[in-house]
Amino acid sequence: MRRQDRTRLTRAAVLALWALAAAAQAQAQDAPRLTGADEPMGDVPAPPVADWIINDVRVGRNYPEQPPVIPHGIEGYQLSVTANRCLECHRREYSGLVAAPMISITHFQDREGQMLADVSPRRYFCTACHVPQSNARPLVENRFRDMLTLMPVGEE
Ligand code: HEC
Ligand code: HEC
Repeated sequence: MRRQDRTRLTRAAVLALWALAAAAQAQAQDAPRLTGADEPMGDVPAPPVADWIINDVRVGRNYPEQPPVIPHGIEGYQLSVTANRCLECHRREYSGLVAAPMISITHFQDREGQMLADVSPRRYFCTACHVPQSNARPLVENRFRDMLTLMPVGEE
């Protein structure tokens, strides 16, 4: 191949790459930013502080494996290596006394599926999976759809 041809080829490849990168950037800008639509460095009024939803009404789950959300306040509840306030109500031994739902059987299983006598270490830090809710405005539109609306039960 002549040297000139090779240079032309390289130039074409660089151009193609540049076009790809530009297209990818245009697409990336289509995704909503988590910080909202405002200009990043502009003066914007602070959003109102959201209220926690602490009405004690248990919330239905959106899919079977969902960790249920926390319907009560957890402010000031200690959750550390030495103390777990959540378990003072949700542990099997105490749940009857305070009418709190017991941590489910999966919380007693280790990673091999073996049953333990007490909560498994991998389920110890409750708030890694269970979170309280607030009335904050969602940062991005939620287009989640219940699986049952996509694949109605009983229909082939
Ligand atoms: C003082 C007792 C108490 C403490 C402490 C407590 N809970 Fe609860 N929890 C309850 C009760 C009672 C309910 C049932 C709904 C209600 O009354 O709020 C509940 C409900 C829940 C639910 C909803 C369960 C479902 O099936 O919908 C979750 C999840 C939960 N708590 C997690 C936690 C976590 C995580 C902590 C620690 C950060 C915690 N709880 C601390 C008493 C407690
Ligand atoms: C690794 C994620 C994870 C962690 C950590 C975790 N959970 Fe859960 N939890 C779940 C999931 C998923 C479910 C629903 C399915 C199930 O029962 O396993 C659930 C269910 C529950 C329920 C409802 C039980 C029922 O029968 O309705 C309660 C109450 C609960 N968890 C409390 C806790 C508490 C208290 C802790 C901390 C000691 C904790 N969970 C830690 C994932 C977690």
